[in-house]
Amino acid sequence: MTPLSSAINTFSLPFGEQRNAPLYGQDILSVNQFNREDLTYIYRVAHEMRSIVERIGSFDLLNGKILANLFYEPSTRTSSSFTAAMERLGGSVIPINNVQYSSVSKGESLPDTVRTLECYADVIVLRHPEVGSCALAAQYAKKPIINAGDGIGEHPTQALLDLFTIFEELGNPEGLSVTLLGDLKNGRTVHSLARLLALFNVKLNYVSPEVLKMPEEIVAELGKKKVKQEAFSELDGILPETDVLYVTRVQKERFASLEEYEQLKDLYVITPETMKAAKQRMIVMHPLPRVGEISMDVDDDPRAAYFRQMEYGMYTRMALLAMVLGKA
Ligand code: NCD
Repeated sequence: MTPLSSAINTFSLPFGEQRNAPLYGQDILSVNQFNREDLTYIYRVAHEMRSIVERIGSFDLLNGKILANLFYEPSTRTSSSFTAAMERLGGSVIPINNVQYSSVSKGESLPDTVRTLECYADVIVLRHPEVGSCALAAQYAKKPIINAGDGIGEHPTQALLDLFTIFEELGNPEGLSVTLLGDLKNGRTVHSLARLLALFNVKLNYVSPEVLKMPEEIVAELGKKKVKQEAFSELDGILPETDVLYVTRVQKERFASLEEYEQLKDLYVITPETMKAAKQRMIVMHPLPRVGEISMDVDDDPRAAYFRQMEYGMYTRMALLAMVLGKA
């Protein structure tokens, strides 16, 4: 070994990395990789992140670490909350939010793009329109890949922050009645959340039109785990017993026909009138963006948790980054 490469090797063993820590060096591809013990750990760290941010704003736990944000689909919250999370921990970010200006537009494949970015970064956050794309990227990358949405597949970090929101707002989800409403067919956030909630004894209510139903394979997967599930076409009947109302947008970009989208998009709208029939302790969640499913008149209702949910997202992503990079 030359003196230079031995010096590099010494440097590449960073101080304080806990190699046996949970999630260290791991990809985050699906919520199915987590058990309740993992969740307890992640949320303990997320809690700590919250109290540190509230006290001092940021600190340098991930000083010198670099995250690559690689987004092949639009994003406001996921991409900026990962950026904020990384920067609040003292790390930095390579933002590739407009792949049309990167070598992707020259025809570069996903495996080559991730193998490029991992030369510069320690972790890659990837959003892509195809189901399974993050798993494919992870096969090629040596550095951890975090799935920030693979088409209509999964959005595991969103589900982790959604469940953190439920814990923070209502406590342990055991026994809760959780109603998922809207585009359950194409919404990746509800696919991940339903799977994650299967770790608890909850009742899942699916409210959607027939054509936007929760996919059969997810219903069957949860059925095997003995999760209580029921499908509805209207919200009215199930609203009074609902503890968490999780509203989603009809996913316009997944429709072949704009006409079909137009017919479905305003089927359910939550208004102050809707809220009158809801429990006093219910929370309304939404992964956002909303495009009319929740009237802005609901925003001042203390049960509207969707803005708080975004903030919980940053703490959850701080925890995940610290863990994946072996610092928590
Ligand atoms: C969601 C997504 O991209 O799946 N947004 C988000 O990450 N918060 C939900 C959506 O786009 O409807």
